[in-house]
Amino acid sequence: MTHMDIGAGVPFIDTRDLGKRYGGLHAVRDVSLSIYAGEVMAIVGDNGAGKSTFIKMLAGDHAPTSGEIIVDGRKVEFKHPRDAKAAGIATIYQDLALCENLNVTDNIFLGNELTKNPLLRLLQSRKMHDEARALLDELGIGIPSTRELVVNMSGGQRQATTLARVAKAGARLLILDEPSAALGVRETRALLDLILRFRGQGKAILIISHEMRDVFEITDRIAVFKRGALIAVRRTKETTPDEIVSLIIKGNS
Ligand SMILES: Nc1ncnc2c1ncn2[C@@H]1O[C@H](COP(=O)(O)OP(=O)(O)OP(=O)(O)O)[C@@H](O)[C@H]1O
Ligand SMILES: [Mg+2]
Repeated sequence: MTHMDIGAGVPFIDTRDLGKRYGGLHAVRDVSLSIYAGEVMAIVGDNGAGKSTFIKMLAGDHAPTSGEIIVDGRKVEFKHPRDAKAAGIATIYQDLALCENLNVTDNIFLGNELTKNPLLRLLQSRKMHDEARALLDELGIGIPSTRELVVNMSGGQRQATTLARVAKAGARLLILDEPSAALGVRETRALLDLILRFRGQGKAILIISHEMRDVFEITDRIAVFKRGALIAVRRTKETTPDEIVSLIIKGNS
């Protein structure tokens, strides 16, 4: 799908007037946004603009207090993150959900083990390590040993492991909340390449980022949040970092 096709066909996911209140605080208000297969969309905005809250609703982590989420043209209600996962939505948060007491391979294969039979699993262990190694090498991710426990790894290595897991699990929408914050230069490069590869496979990617360079390098569209509201959506090719920064700070006025 090319850039110009965006806007045609059925979006993978749609929100209609989606809102979230925490008590008296309106964290997200009336956000209507469509995300298409084969596009990378950034969500940008100041601290507290509601970006993370918005994606937590798409991830089934927080229930909306108003509005609707539509997947493939059908209204959905995510009661649990696994509901969103079953709908093909994978999310990577800043505070990464890895099992610290497991090694790299076990984390990558978590929930997708080659077999669940413990005895067979032992036999498959080598195969999983080999596959994990191949995947990490393919992604250009520098982790010395797939047998290393996550508890002993750096933030960037953990994030890299999460990326490998997401690549393994397969998803139709990949959501990343400030993914490069904890990454080194190499891992950031691997992440950007991985995102572009996912797009090439027809997946949708939603990325929250404060890194304007990354945003302008890899996205097709940029959505700007301010005080809980979606105030602008721009095609990346038709805007500039200056305009986006001005929207973030001053809004539309
Ligand atoms: N669990 C919660 N309970 C109460 N208020 C919350 C909760 N999570 C977020 N908020 C509030 O909702 C608003 C939006 O927060 P959110 O985390 O979505 O912002 P953000 O755009 O992701 O900011 P940042 O760029 O700093 O990560 C903030 O005012 C925040 O304090
Ligand atoms: Mg946030």
